[in-house]
Amino acid sequence: MSKNTPKKTPPRAAWSGRFAEPVAERVQRYTASISFDKRLAEHDIRGSLAHARMLAARAVISRRDLAAIESGMRSILAEVRSGKFKWSLAAEDVHLNIERRLTALAGDAGKRLHTARSRNDQVATDVRLWLRDAIDAIAAQLAALQKALLDLAEHHAGTIMPGFTHLQVAQPVTFGHHLMAYFEMFARDRERLADCRKRVNRLPLGAAALAGTSYPIDREMVAKELGFDGVCANSLDAVSDRDFAVEFCAAAALIMTHISRLSEELVLWMSPRYGFIRLPDRFCTGSSIMPQKKNPDVPELARGKSGRVTGHLMALLMLMKAQPLAYNKDNQEDKEPLFDTADTVLDTLAIFTDMVAGIEVDAGTMRAAAAEGHSTATDLADYLVKKGLPFRDAHEAVARAVRAADERGCDLAALGLAQLRQFSPLVGADVFKVLTLEGSLASRNHVGGTAPKRVRAAIKHARKSLR
Ligand code: ARG
Repeated sequence: MSKNTPKKTPPRAAWSGRFAEPVAERVQRYTASISFDKRLAEHDIRGSLAHARMLAARAVISRRDLAAIESGMRSILAEVRSGKFKWSLAAEDVHLNIERRLTALAGDAGKRLHTARSRNDQVATDVRLWLRDAIDAIAAQLAALQKALLDLAEHHAGTIMPGFTHLQVAQPVTFGHHLMAYFEMFARDRERLADCRKRVNRLPLGAAALAGTSYPIDREMVAKELGFDGVCANSLDAVSDRDFAVEFCAAAALIMTHISRLSEELVLWMSPRYGFIRLPDRFCTGSSIMPQKKNPDVPELARGKSGRVTGHLMALLMLMKAQPLAYNKDNQEDKEPLFDTADTVLDTLAIFTDMVAGIEVDAGTMRAAAAEGHSTATDLADYLVKKGLPFRDAHEAVARAVRAADERGCDLAALGLAQLRQFSPLVGADVFKVLTLEGSLASRNHVGGTAPKRVRAAIKHARKSLR
């Protein structure tokens, strides 16, 4: 291994004053965050401008300094957006990179920007600003996916499919009803994001390194300019906790868990064994060896990515665990899991929005599957109960009828009246109304039930909630 002597004298670190030798090159790479935190640049600039305006308003810096900072930041923003900004590893992170460039452009005014501030409250502010935008983007994409589900559900409010328990045909439901179950899951996901956003949307600036600052700052002014709902009430807490990021990752893990369930069903439904749906070719890939294959790669990948997002949640929880107050460098590790979580969720939701809109349904196959597996057995039991038989006895009578149907190799609904009467004399000719798939569906006529009428009402209600 080479010695840690740098070949040329590197630029001095902003904090190098008390150090007798430059930091080892490997340590510099190990401790730098610029490779990933540069994506906070625009939020960092926004936060700095609000801070500088407040400093000027409180006469901590002059109006001239503020003007120089504003103009320097305008140039920096343009450089960042055009990709011309030269990020330097030696400057460690996004904050020091921008400050160094500002000083090059604005001179001493640039050096005054960091008055009454620390990177500790600065980075906490940047991450919160960034996350707030990410939450808004994800919430909007969730709503778009919900809309796609609603449109498909509306189309299929009366399309009969088998409902499953234990992956065995249980009772008939409509495909619209089934899709609306996912609508509900994503509605709660949106609520969770909105709730988490309230705690994200608090301003850490003013906490400085950990104890606050001796300058006459106006935190409310900064909070207002940055669109925060208020300020973090305790300086130590403001710079050190990342619970808001943990909460977001928990909400994201649930979104991906819901996506993974939908994915699993899409994979099953489009397998030739089920044949319930087709996904457009643009969402599938082929096999390099088996020419007949059309693989559901998108849902499978999403199912896989749900594990990765849940892993990020665990990473952040472990990151926070047992950290003493206040800021510790551990917290620099919050960014990669957080960024990847938001990216993965947003990408997945966008792809699913398009894919759901493209689902084609084979209603005939779905209906045929619902007619198998004695799916109206519960309806027959309920029929007997309504004629006066206690439910347990009805259950027993129907179970025997199911066995008889199995022995004949037919479905319960295919047994004749005489045969059915062998299991209970209470059976009358009206029994076939409940033994049909349509009869079974129509009878589940209450809020939350699968009767097509109710599904249509639920869809109407849901559409209003999206506005
Ligand atoms: N890059 C750092 C981070 O992401 C910024 C804060 C550094 N603060 C410090 N005291 N070293 O957490």
